Amino acid sequence: MCCNGIIVLLALFIGFMAIIYLLYQTYSYIRCGCGKYGPFVSSYGKIKEDIIGEARRILQQSSAPLKVTDLGCGSGALLLPLAREFPQHEFIGYEWDIVPLTMGKIKAAGLANIKFVKGDYMKQNYSAMDLILCYVLKVTGEPLGKKLAQEIKPSCTVISEMFPLGHLEEVKQIESSIYGVPEKIFIYRKPRQEKKQPAAAKKKAEAKSGAKIADKVKAKSNTRSGMAKGKASGAKVKSLKSGRN
Ligand SMILES: C[S@@+](CC[C@H](N)C(=O)[O-])C[C@H]1O[C@@H](n2cnc3c(N)ncnc32)[C@H](O)[C@@H]1O
Repeated sequence: MCCNGIIVLLALFIGFMAIIYLLYQTYSYIRCGCGKYGPFVSSYGKIKEDIIGEARRILQQSSAPLKVTDLGCGSGALLLPLAREFPQHEFIGYEWDIVPLTMGKIKAAGLANIKFVKGDYMKQNYSAMDLILCYVLKVTGEPLGKKLAQEIKPSCTVISEMFPLGHLEEVKQIESSIYGVPEKIFIYRKPRQEKKQPAAAKKKAEAKSGAKIADKVKAKSNTRSGMAKGKASGAKVKSLKSGRN
């Protein structure tokens, strides 16, 4: 009887937790624009270790303090181990879901170099960042890439888990996996832009190319008139010849 009671209590507890989980997933899905943004799924497995490894390589190389951010940081699966390992660098996670955000804040207690900020990562400015991590949906890759391409500095590195970002310059792809399932990591930097010509130099270049075109037209018309003259003189010679005959 006692044993049956425990089993019933356990089943009730599991059922209760499952309902809470389902309610949370529904809230998370709606909170993330019904598929527009990725819901809370923590990085895990080999891909998590590979991203941390890639970030570690960059952070180790700099003696100056760097600014690192995770866009949609969840509970800090990527940022927390890095913040513990590199107290000289500064870490900031943006997250709009209060549940993972609170979990992250609790786990970060005692660490002075990490901040969890509640907010929409599409509304922040990343011009001061040196390293950006993200794990977003495929559909977010296009608008987020466009925003980053405009804002980030040339020395900034962007690491994207699983999904490519648009508009940025791809540095490399890393083959990784999540529990045996092959997945990729995409590394980007700011796209190289053509150097802007100063207005005066642009005018000069335009005038020069205009003059060149005019010269070409002149040369062409000279050749044509030369050919016409040649033809005419040829005809004259012919008529003279025919006259002689
Ligand atoms: C796939 S999870 C990644 C979590 C974490 N980066 C990690 O690797 O463990 C994506 C997270 O981004 C958050 N998120 C999605 N869109 C967001 C937005 N526009 N602004 C802030 N957070 C967002 C979600 O709530 C979710 O926690």
